[in-house]
Amino acid sequence: MRMHFDMRGGHRLEGAVAIHSAKNAVLPILAASILADDPVTILDCPRISDAQNMLRIVEELGCGVRHAGGGTVIDASAMSSWSIPDWLAKKLRSSIFIMGPILGKCRKAMVTHPGGCEIGMRPIDLHIRGLSALGVVFEEDGERIRCDGGAMRGGEVHFDYPSVGATENVMMAAALIPGDTTIHNAAKEPEIVDLQRFMNAMGARIRGAGTHTITVEGVKRLRGVSYRPMFDRIVAGTLLAAGAITGGELQLDNTRMQELVAVTAKLRDMGCDIAATAGGIHLRAPKRLQTFGQLQTQPHPGFPTDMQVQMLALSTVAAGTSIVTENVFENRFAHAADLNRMGADIVVHGRTAVVRGVERLHGASVQARDLRGGAALVLAGLAAHDTTRIARVDLIDRGYEALEDTLTSLGADIRRVKG
Ligand code: UD1
Repeated sequence: MRMHFDMRGGHRLEGAVAIHSAKNAVLPILAASILADDPVTILDCPRISDAQNMLRIVEELGCGVRHAGGGTVIDASAMSSWSIPDWLAKKLRSSIFIMGPILGKCRKAMVTHPGGCEIGMRPIDLHIRGLSALGVVFEEDGERIRCDGGAMRGGEVHFDYPSVGATENVMMAAALIPGDTTIHNAAKEPEIVDLQRFMNAMGARIRGAGTHTITVEGVKRLRGVSYRPMFDRIVAGTLLAAGAITGGELQLDNTRMQELVAVTAKLRDMGCDIAATAGGIHLRAPKRLQTFGQLQTQPHPGFPTDMQVQMLALSTVAAGTSIVTENVFENRFAHAADLNRMGADIVVHGRTAVVRGVERLHGASVQARDLRGGAALVLAGLAAHDTTRIARVDLIDRGYEALEDTLTSLGADIRRVKG
């Protein structure tokens, strides 16, 4: 069903919230759950649509999925299929992550070229090259990809670029195959460390996550565990930005500064007072934000691309000129035009946006085009002095659990309207 947000800006956000588990940790963890012989329980699985779609994929493979006592239980003992239906693969780009676990478990898989956010080409060549190094043979049949893993064994994988998804796919494919695998130039994102922690709890032998080199020693079987995935650093970053753009004061619980330093450093440059607290982060924002100067997205530990457009929204009302360069995805300024319709002054030249801060934004009727861009429009709506309508809330629901409830609890005026 079509849904939009109606919101009225100008309210200072104040209060405390706990951050839910990370979309980008939960998706590979749900995929890796099918590797275990006994049931796996994921505690506090976030109620976001990407996680629900991944659970649907797991069910389509014949695995049991049930919710019990605050946990989501995945039982792969009855897994009967190695093929992901087309329509589901198109809903969720991360469906490609489950190619590695299916191959590790069944030695064959049938997948579809994935869908997902419209934020660039998002090819899967690195996934294919990584799994080929483990002996998988690929055959393309239109949009479908047939994967034969009959000769799978450990191998040497080198990525030209540290892709998050490809690194995770190879880790999951390598866990149950004979021999050792080394991944060179691996991605270092915190969610990869969380995946290693989860898989090792199941009995895998993985080392090095969080560095450029990851090694996986194949084991014969993995056992069921109960696991709570790490907090969502992008949701935390978005809420810090919400506090900042409203001149507010927030306490975020279930959050760690360590995973957010690239973001908090920029918020400090903008004049926010940020401190680590026991189990969380406290932010106090100034009345008027200052520019952060320049910002460039990079693989971790650089500035995360998933926080770029939220910072773009902040810079629209910060005093001075800000320059934002997107190096990870080629199509991540799609919301600049919407922000300009709300009174911002953004000029985009290729991969760089130049923003001249204005005193205030005004409301408009705008539309989310992708997950993070949708969140950025919400931030702009919080700062606008009148009403904003944001269409395509379903895109925001992919990664934020009832964002309007969280913001309302902090004093925002925002509601979800159906139809
Ligand atoms: C993951 C995150 C996403 C985040 C991104 C970068 C999940 C579920 N999603 O996405 O939120 O924005 O990391 O931090 O964890 N690329 C190729 N070939 C490939 C794979 C990727 O060229 O085979 C390119 C992409 O087009 C992109 C860059 O590499 O330009 C980064 O992509 P990657 O790190 O793979 O991102 P995802 O795993 O898709």
